[in-house]
Amino acid sequence: MKVIQVGIGGMGNTWLNAVLNSSEVEYAALVEINEDIGRQQAEKYGLDPALIFRSLPEALAAVSADGVIDVTPPAFHREISAIALEAGLPVLSEKPLANTLADAVAIGQKANETGVLHMVAQNYRYHVPVQTLKSVLASGEFGRVGSVSVEFFKGPHFGGFREEMAYPLIIDMAIHHFDLMRFLLESESVSIFGRSWNPPWSWYKGDASASVSLEFASGVMVAYNGSWCSTGRETAWNAHWRFECERGVVTLQEDRVYTQARSDELLSQGGYSQFSNGEVIEVKPVELTHVAQAYLLHEFYQAVTQHKAVATTCQDNIKSLGIVFDVIKSCETGQPVRSGEMKR
Ligand SMILES: NC(=O)c1ccc[n+]([C@@H]2O[C@H](COP(=O)([O-])OP(=O)(O)OC[C@H]3O[C@@H](n4cnc5c(N)ncnc54)[C@H](O)[C@@H]3O)[C@@H](O)[C@H]2O)c1
Repeated sequence: MKVIQVGIGGMGNTWLNAVLNSSEVEYAALVEINEDIGRQQAEKYGLDPALIFRSLPEALAAVSADGVIDVTPPAFHREISAIALEAGLPVLSEKPLANTLADAVAIGQKANETGVLHMVAQNYRYHVPVQTLKSVLASGEFGRVGSVSVEFFKGPHFGGFREEMAYPLIIDMAIHHFDLMRFLLESESVSIFGRSWNPPWSWYKGDASASVSLEFASGVMVAYNGSWCSTGRETAWNAHWRFECERGVVTLQEDRVYTQARSDELLSQGGYSQFSNGEVIEVKPVELTHVAQAYLLHEFYQAVTQHKAVATTCQDNIKSLGIVFDVIKSCETGQPVRSGEMKR
């Protein structure tokens, strides 16, 4: 299968490595708007400079391909997706699907009209720690989930579009964690209350910190606290997660999964009794054949060549992105937002 990758700087490096290491997918062409980046990447990866174009239409006029991988900043996703889908080419797009709800809806409409696959790279679903966590929750061993708390604290100085955009944490980062909530809980959000702010030392123009309370249709309550201008004791990119379940607690800390089962035995202590807790046990990580971008690339390949179903189609992903925009609406109005109030 031959693909055109649009955007080869920044995160484009991860995709270059994924495609160049794949036995299933190869490049028909690359597109890079910045000539210097194009030249540097051609040298670094040994790419044929004649196959690096300045725009997707130029590349489409010159080569034939089976799909497009879009690794441009979010503001360009609508345009790149529309060009590819109209040309009949399936799209594997970096998250977030778009940086406005209107653009996300337009991409979904274009995919529906053309009937061409458009999938979003929610690679965090396919990290080993997350799949390990999912396997514990899905086993049912700990019973129903009552509540979840998620903590995400990082302080990266990226420069570029993230430091200029409104709500960088919520739109460009927390989309991963909101998507993981849907994936791990297998339920949809029904109501959201969010607050966002920019700490005095923030190097971002938009709010880099947020605190969000989410209710899911299954009744699970999630508390999300995050910041992209943390000053220390950072969490993993996957965040720290604590699932309070009816038969114990499941956590993801520093990318390791731990469980502590509750027994039905009541023990007396300090003037009251409580259920006795078992030992804290670290769960053996699951083994995966394909991880993160390599997983998504393999899924894209199977969808295009064998018509296999894809989990993170744009039609599904708009529900994750919908959480993002419900959070922003709540932050802006100071009111709780019922999911689905906004047109999707
Ligand atoms: N899934 C993840 O874990 C993850 C991690 C980082 C970034 N991302 C996503 O990847 C996307 C790109 O982010 P980034 O950090 O690489 O940004 P970036 O600005 O560092 O790089 C984007 C690249 O695309 C090029 N570009 C921009 N517009 C273009 C256009 N119209 N045509 C061709 N090339 C164009 C730029 O010159 C640059 O080389 C974003 O949507 C971001 O959210 C995802």
